[in-house]
Amino acid sequence: MNVGVLTGGGDCPGLNAVIRAVVRKGEKIFGDTFTGFQDGWKGVVEGRTMTLNVERCRGILPRGGTILGSSRTNPFKVDGGPERCLDTLKRLGVDALVAIGGEDTLGVANRLHGEHGVNVVGVPKTIDNDLSGTEVTFGFDTAVQVACDAIDRLHTTAESHDRVLVCEVMGRHAGWIAAVAGIAGGAAEVLVPEREIDIDAVCENLIARHKKGRYASIVVVAEGAQPKEGSFALASGEVDEFGHVRLGGIGEVIAKEIRQRTGFDARVTVLGHIQRGGTPTAFDRVLATRFGLRAIETVHDQDWGKMVALRAGKIVRIPIAEAVAQLKTVDPELLADCEVFYG
Ligand code: F6P
Repeated sequence: MNVGVLTGGGDCPGLNAVIRAVVRKGEKIFGDTFTGFQDGWKGVVEGRTMTLNVERCRGILPRGGTILGSSRTNPFKVDGGPERCLDTLKRLGVDALVAIGGEDTLGVANRLHGEHGVNVVGVPKTIDNDLSGTEVTFGFDTAVQVACDAIDRLHTTAESHDRVLVCEVMGRHAGWIAAVAGIAGGAAEVLVPEREIDIDAVCENLIARHKKGRYASIVVVAEGAQPKEGSFALASGEVDEFGHVRLGGIGEVIAKEIRQRTGFDARVTVLGHIQRGGTPTAFDRVLATRFGLRAIETVHDQDWGKMVALRAGKIVRIPIAEAVAQLKTVDPELLADCEVFYG
């Protein structure tokens, strides 16, 4: 078969490991050829491809990013976008498409399959870990490790200066990175999109904590966290083709509120894209590899419209539609576990 491969949305560590696994097994076991689409759906719309074979995949397993490039292009927002995708696939003789992405990229895959009969198989990726149907997405473990390392470092300097250090992490709709890294790093507060921020309660906890002596407090905030109505305001940013506002900046607002309300010296560190770049952890490499191997098998079973997913240690297939139907937000039990360490 001629199998198209694309990576869409925000990149994450492990994408190259998926590509390598798909191509290695496809070429070696099934005798496939591959068409690498550049920059996600944009490459399909514009017919931009690159060579993709075992040779091209050498050495990419430990590399972050994606050799295919990525974008947030939504073909359904481009004039004649879906038709242009179909033309490209037909012209290049692409029999099936492996789409590696999060809710947006897979949402497009699902529509192209359902509405236009495209033979798609999905692979879930996102550092945010907010995709339903799979217990975890690759990229998440690496992002958590980066955040945890940063929190550890912030702890020692916060102790020296008796400061409150706010650490802003990624997490648009779900606070998985904040919650898991917060527990691993011993955060004094974890602020997530799932719960409106009660800044008064946050400050009370910090004051109570610092009254006990010279304490370093690390406040971890997910970039998508929102304030309780009327407490403080956030600036809004640009919107992408999937309707997402560009986030970032809440950490500074929180630090300012803490300074004003408590008098503590509060500073902010924004981890930003550091969480998305660089080499994947061993866990992410293995998960991404297993996803890739199962994805190419799914292609050869012609089990279209499916996404590979991790459930109870096994890689299973579920309908993409199920995965993109609703976001997987942080389990309240995990948030309650964070709270035990407040104050
Ligand atoms: O979708 C994953 C994510 O990491 C979000 O947490 C974040 O809002 C977004 O990507 C930022 O992506 P970019 O800077 O590439 O627009």
